[in-house]
Amino acid sequence: MNVPEVVLTDPGALAEQLAADVRAGLTATRKTLPSKYLYDAHGSELFDQITRLPQYYPTRAERAILEAHAADIARVTGARSLVELGSGTSEKTRLLLGALRDAGTLESFIPFDVDPAVLKDASSAVAGEFPGVLVEPVVGDFDRHLGELPRHPGRLVAFLGSTIGNLDPAQRAGFFADVRSILRPGDAFLLGTDLVKPVERLIAAYDDAQGVTAAFDKNVLAVVNRDLDGDFDLDAFEHRAVWDAEHERIEMRLQSSREQVVQVCGLGLEVHFAQHEEMRTEISSKFRRATVEAELAAAGLLLTQWWTDPPGDFALSLSVPG
Ligand code: SAH
Ligand code: TRP
Repeated sequence: MNVPEVVLTDPGALAEQLAADVRAGLTATRKTLPSKYLYDAHGSELFDQITRLPQYYPTRAERAILEAHAADIARVTGARSLVELGSGTSEKTRLLLGALRDAGTLESFIPFDVDPAVLKDASSAVAGEFPGVLVEPVVGDFDRHLGELPRHPGRLVAFLGSTIGNLDPAQRAGFFADVRSILRPGDAFLLGTDLVKPVERLIAAYDDAQGVTAAFDKNVLAVVNRDLDGDFDLDAFEHRAVWDAEHERIEMRLQSSREQVVQVCGLGLEVHFAQHEEMRTEISSKFRRATVEAELAAAGLLLTQWWTDPPGDFALSLSVPG
């Protein structure tokens, strides 16, 4: 079933933002490329493959929690409208939708993502599986557009997959404050967070032997090549996942295999890489209950429920405007 989507991103503004972000990242002393641009249609497809890797436990752990507790979430929230931020394929979300439908409260589903391609497929599939539910997909950026999402009463805002871990502490504070500002009394916020665990399992999850994660990480180079007329040689960079013990986060980096000069014609930029120079592409923070609770509280969100999978790998928390 085809569902028309609302597009909040303005292509001109998006291109300008990409140009500004890439310029800032590539001219910095320690180079970075912003992770938002990992997710074009190809990136979303690669991420979907990551979620099926045996080493990538977060998706299965979060699904197990939803299997065990979606009915509790439906009962506690009584939600009529489910808003999903960074919804991707909305695969696990079907467990929530099913529980809300069975509870008899579900009226609308608003999946929200930067990638129009993944959003289109997911919303068509969900509309087919949940007849009678109003599906209103929105293309946009959760850094900018939360205030513009359709406002139906009885909202449950869900942010799954530990995508929150891809934001740094200052960005998280801003994000939680934005979420808080769109909640009314009676609404709730469901957050998925990956938890601190032994480093070997983390590295395996973010640097799989099959090279799917490497391909995903390098996709940002392909995006720069395509959208900013760059000439990055994807084979001249190696994917690395490094544990940052101080900040309790995995850093994804692309390491230049050799000394090289990359042209980014769209920016009129010539970028020099030393051999083995590393460029950060993504962080994936790992959490503890106390920090999640404190960060939510700082934004005026009161944590009311905390569920983990049996091994304690991943947590789902429910919070309400405090
Ligand atoms: N929620 C899904 C997908 C997680 S991957 C899951 O749990 O498996 C992260 C998703 O967030 C991707 O679909 C990506 O396109 C989207 N995303 C990343 N940055 C975004 C941003 N700034 N605004 C909106 N969506 C974003
Ligand atoms: N939200 C996902 C996570 O932090 C994103 C992700 C998974 C990711 N694997 C990745 C991002 C590899 C960059 C590279 O787990």
